[in-house]
Amino acid sequence: KQEKFQKIYELYDAAQKLYTHILLNTTAGEQALAYLKDDRQLDEETIRQYSLGFVPSNNVLLSYAREHNIDEAVMTAAELFIERDGELTRDRFNNRVVWPIKNDRGQVLGFSGRSLDPDNPAKYMNSPESPFFNKGKLLYNLDQSKGNIRSGQAAMIFEGFMDVISAAMAGVGGAVATMGTALTEEHVRTLAKLNDKITLVYDGDAAGQKAAKRSIPLIRSVAPEVEIGVIALADNRDPDEVRRELGLPALKQALSQATQTPTEYLINAAKQGKNLQNQAQYLDFLKEVWPILAAASAVELDYFLKKISEDYGSSLDSLQSEFEDYRQKHPQ
Ligand code: CTP
Ligand code: MN
Ligand code: MN
Ligand code: MN
Ligand code: MN
Repeated sequence: KQEKFQKIYELYDAAQKLYTHILLNTTAGEQALAYLKDDRQLDEETIRQYSLGFVPSNNVLLSYAREHNIDEAVMTAAELFIERDGELTRDRFNNRVVWPIKNDRGQVLGFSGRSLDPDNPAKYMNSPESPFFNKGKLLYNLDQSKGNIRSGQAAMIFEGFMDVISAAMAGVGGAVATMGTALTEEHVRTLAKLNDKITLVYDGDAAGQKAAKRSIPLIRSVAPEVEIGVIALADNRDPDEVRRELGLPALKQALSQATQTPTEYLINAAKQGKNLQNQAQYLDFLKEVWPILAAASAVELDYFLKKISEDYGSSLDSLQSEFEDYRQKHPQ
């Protein structure tokens, strides 16, 4: 069994090398390389650093595996091929740019592939869940950022692969991403063992805000000792779009700004889309604020009640009494 595992790891490595070779050195990879260089603005050094690849539509890995007499059971377990009527018939990632997904030791355990066709509804496709590839455990780029996080740089959690690569280009040492999945307890435990600072950098859109609202209480419950920071990006952009549309210096600036505390971030998020001069919308805002402040420290509670009073003209007494009402009805 140990030997079979070894063979599977070797197949993952061979697949990554083959796909990278095709991307960088063959005509079959030309279009994908142009996409990465021109559209995604990556240079060849970066493409190599992250071992990006391209899978042409001619089942190149299947041919390779047959030529090298790789065991059928190894091929099946690696989940790199599509099975049809009990037979392995094609490369799973045909016609996709691929990012190898590695564990924290740098061993390839699967791939994520992006279609070049903007009309393809399945923009990204991941290796299926298997004993090797577990999205709830793996963090993209942890192999390259682990040492930096352990030696003091905050772990920065992004949504996507390209966001991690863009952040690294901007000089961020601790960038990781979850893979199209929500942050899990296991992800948090992994990062909390390395450092007691975690910064969330989700996309500046509604989905990113939703992700932050979910991740903050999760981190607080799994690792209360961790200091959470949030970086909010403007105008619906993700970090990679900030780099490509506003430039690398703009991304550097965004990622090196002082982080917001979760309470600050959540209160700002509650303000969004509301006209707080309107009475009804102001009261809706306060309803969203109470649970946020119920999870905040005493100092934060004091600070934000005073701030809301100053900003919107409610007396501190009335705010305090409404908050106390909320707390009575919702004991922790
Ligand atoms: N994702 C996925 N399937 C999709 C869309 C997204 O698995 N159809 C995952 C990918 O891991 C992706 C992450 O969710 O990196 C964040 O989604 P999104 O912000 O939509 O993708 P981007 O990373 O911005 O993708 P790109 O910049 O390549 O368009
Ligand atoms: Mn997104
Ligand atoms: Mn995005
Ligand atoms: Mn996007
Ligand atoms: Mn993007």
